[in-house]
Amino acid sequence: MNLETLYLICYIWLGIAIAVHITMFFITAPFGRHTTTTWGPMIDNKLGWFIMELPSLGIMLYFLMFGTLSFNSYVWILFSLWIFHYLNRTFIYPLRIRATDKKMPLVIVLNAILFNFMNAGLNGYFLSELADSSMYQSDWLTTPHFILGAVLFVVGMTINWKSDSILIHLRKPGETGYKIPRGFLFDYVSSPNLFGELVEWGGFALMAWNLPALTFMVWTFANLVPRAKNHHDWYHQKFTDYPKERKAVFPFLF
Ligand SMILES: NC(=O)c1ccc[n+]([C@@H]2O[C@H](COP(=O)([O-])OP(=O)(O)OC[C@H]3O[C@@H](n4cnc5c(N)ncnc54)[C@H](OP(=O)(O)O)[C@@H]3O)[C@@H](O)[C@H]2O)c1
Repeated sequence: MNLETLYLICYIWLGIAIAVHITMFFITAPFGRHTTTTWGPMIDNKLGWFIMELPSLGIMLYFLMFGTLSFNSYVWILFSLWIFHYLNRTFIYPLRIRATDKKMPLVIVLNAILFNFMNAGLNGYFLSELADSSMYQSDWLTTPHFILGAVLFVVGMTINWKSDSILIHLRKPGETGYKIPRGFLFDYVSSPNLFGELVEWGGFALMAWNLPALTFMVWTFANLVPRAKNHHDWYHQKFTDYPKERKAVFPFLF
C-alpha cells in the first residue's frame, strides 16, 4: 500500500468516526453499567475486554518487530508508548475489574476488534513502512510538539489509570452495585478516566504529528465523549443526590 492509499483510508475512516460519534449520542453502547441482554449473544466481561483489546497490542508489536523502518529512526518510541498502554488494557485492566460474573454483548467485542484493527493497522503500517524517517530523527525529540505531546501522554495516562483504579475500588470484593465516586478529578467530572484517555491520545497525536495518529485521536474523541455523556446522564438518573456542579468529561466545560 502506498501513502496516498493509506491517507485515503484515513479520510474514509475519519468520516465513519463522525457518523459513529453522532449515533452514539442516541444509541448507548451496551457494556459496563449500560449492559443489556437485547443485543444478541453475550460473552464474559473480562474475556470480552481481553479479546477486543488484544488486536491493537498484537498488531503494533508485529509492526514494531517486523516493520521495515521501525528502528531506522525514533518511531520505536511511539510504538513503545502504544504497546505500554495496551499491555495494561489487554492484560492488567481485565484482571483488576470486579463483578466477575458480568457479561457484555458479543457485538461490542466485534465492533471493538474492528476499531482496534483499523487504528493499530493504520498507525503501525504508517510508522513501520511509510513514514518519512527523516521526520523522526533526534531533532524530533526536542520539537515543542513532541515535548508537549509527551507530557500530555504521561499526564493523560496517569489520570486514566488513577481514575480507573478509584472506580474499581469503589466495590469491596464480592460487591456488584454502583456508588458515587468522590475525590481526585471526580469532583469536576463524572468520567475522569475517559478524560485521561482523551488527553493521552491527544498527546500521542501531537508527538507523532501524522494523519493516522490524528485519526486515532478523533476516533477516541468520537467514542469517549458520548460514552462519558451516557455515564453522566446515568448517574443523574440513578442518584438523586448526585453532585449538580459536576460536568460529564471536560472540567468546567462539558
Ligand atoms: N479508546 C477508546 O475508545 C475506549 C473506549 C471505551 C473504553 N476505553 C477505556 O476503557 C476503560 C473502561 O471504560 P468504561 O467506559 O467501561 O469505564 P467505566 O464505566 O468508568 O468503568 C470502569 C470500571 O469501574 C467500574 N465502575 C465504574 N463506575 C462505578 C461506580 N460508580 N461504582 C462502582 N463501580 C464502578 C466499572 O464496573 P462495571 O463494568 O460493572 O460498570 C468498571 O469495572 C476506561 O479507562 C476507558 O478510557 C477506551
